[in-house]
Amino acid sequence: MPRTVITFGTFDVFHVGHLRVIERAAAQGDRLVVGVSSDALNLSKKGREPVFSQSERIEIVSALKPVDEVFVEESLELKRHYIEQYAADVLVMGDDWAGRFDEFGDVCEVVYLPRTPAISTTALIEKISATG
Ligand code: CTP
Repeated sequence: MPRTVITFGTFDVFHVGHLRVIERAAAQGDRLVVGVSSDALNLSKKGREPVFSQSERIEIVSALKPVDEVFVEESLELKRHYIEQYAADVLVMGDDWAGRFDEFGDVCEVVYLPRTPAISTTALIEKISATG
């Protein structure tokens, strides 16, 4: 049986930290499924729309070689549902979420990967708007 990995994120203003987490997530199994958070979810969570729309973010993530399947993550509360829907064997999250998803250990393995240091979408947006 192929080992399915699932991960989630906004992947707005796509940067090398995103690429590396996707590459390392893919290396945990045979098939990588990525949940890209919806515009509405970001608006409710962060109080602003992402720079790139969900259809643009999905287009970018879908084009990556390690990614096999992409879907829209509509709610943070549906993680268990998505894990079961995509029959994921492993849930991979960045270690900014360390410990927060341990509850899913009954249905899949839960792996937290270290973030790439010194880069984030928020920092990039701030840097670009400060120099613009
Ligand atoms: N990620 C990472 N290293 C970074 C930035 C992000 O490994 N330097 C990972 C996150 O841990 C997550 C995925 O990339 O698993 C998607 O993160 P996302 O929140 O979309 O990106 P950030 O750059 O963290 O965005 P923001 O600054 O808006 O929180």
